[in-house]
Amino acid sequence: MHVFAIGASGILGSHLVPMLLRRGHDVTAMAPGDRLDRLPEEARRIRASLLDPVAGRLLATEFKDVDAVVNAATAVPPTAGSWALNTALRSTGTAVVTDALQEAGVRRFVQMSITMAYADGGDTPLTEAAPFDNRPERTTIVAPVQAMEATVRELPADEIAWSILRGGRFVGPATVQDQQRARLRAGRLPIPGDGRSWAAMVHARDYAEAVVGALERGCTGETLNIADEPVRVADYYRELARADGSPAPGQAPEETAEPSHRVSSEAARRLLDWAPVHGIWPVRGGER
Ligand SMILES: NC(=O)c1ccc[n+]([C@@H]2O[C@H](COP(=O)([O-])OP(=O)(O)OC[C@H]3O[C@@H](n4cnc5c(N)ncnc54)[C@H](OP(=O)(O)O)[C@@H]3O)[C@@H](O)[C@H]2O)c1
Repeated sequence: MHVFAIGASGILGSHLVPMLLRRGHDVTAMAPGDRLDRLPEEARRIRASLLDPVAGRLLATEFKDVDAVVNAATAVPPTAGSWALNTALRSTGTAVVTDALQEAGVRRFVQMSITMAYADGGDTPLTEAAPFDNRPERTTIVAPVQAMEATVRELPADEIAWSILRGGRFVGPATVQDQQRARLRAGRLPIPGDGRSWAAMVHARDYAEAVVGALERGCTGETLNIADEPVRVADYYRELARADGSPAPGQAPEETAEPSHRVSSEAARRLLDWAPVHGIWPVRGGER
């Protein structure tokens, strides 16, 4: 297949693009910045932004000889920055992509999404039917995800095999886990609340495998959770510290607790024959 991957120069793309090439697919990768240069040279690259006024025209033309499109574009602010760019990518950007898909007659599409949008589920396993978190304090993050998914669901499933993959938080090299490990080493990552919340995580390479599975199977009309076995936050921080020989984490105030996401990926295991193999724990002395 010829796969056109938007936002393929980031963490996911660094796994996905080589994986697709190894499996014999042609890949065109699009992103606005210099990280595009780090991709394997066999991948064709297009330096462009989804938010450029001419993006729609560009994509409709580029998609003409494309079999499948992946949309992984995102711009999460580093810490306390503005979410405006990410919101624009999820709302306007996704609509630009879905319009171009239809204009060019592309038959397969996979859209990335996040399990982080779910409401606190306590100890209940969260399937794809679980509600999103509609509390006002989470609107900035959750509303654009909702809008993005709604845009994809408007695609005619009999003409375009579309799927939405809701990923757990990425772990592995170059992910937020690196920062967590550094903070644990420095004794600066206390366990939030009572630590009983569940966390949904997935190795970025395992997530990339799920994207390839959805593309190759031509999965249609499906929204699927893609996460490793959930763990309680306290167990995760303690084990992460232990793995690195870092001091055991202390306890942060109750109000810092994050929503509990005991995410179930049973549907993906069944429909994509997907199973995480890289796990969520760092391996001493090397990459996973
Ligand atoms: N990270 C996670 O924990 C996580 C978990 C679950 C799901 N996901 C989803 O997986 C996807 C990929 O995430 P990631 O962690 O790989 O993100 P990332 O490392 O931040 O990469 C984001 C990608 O989007 C591109 N991008 C930024 N602005 C763009 C624009 N205006 N037009 C087109 N592309 C643009 C970036 O290009 P530049 O390199 O030029 O900036 C990069 O290729 C996202 O949809 C995300 O929501 C992520």
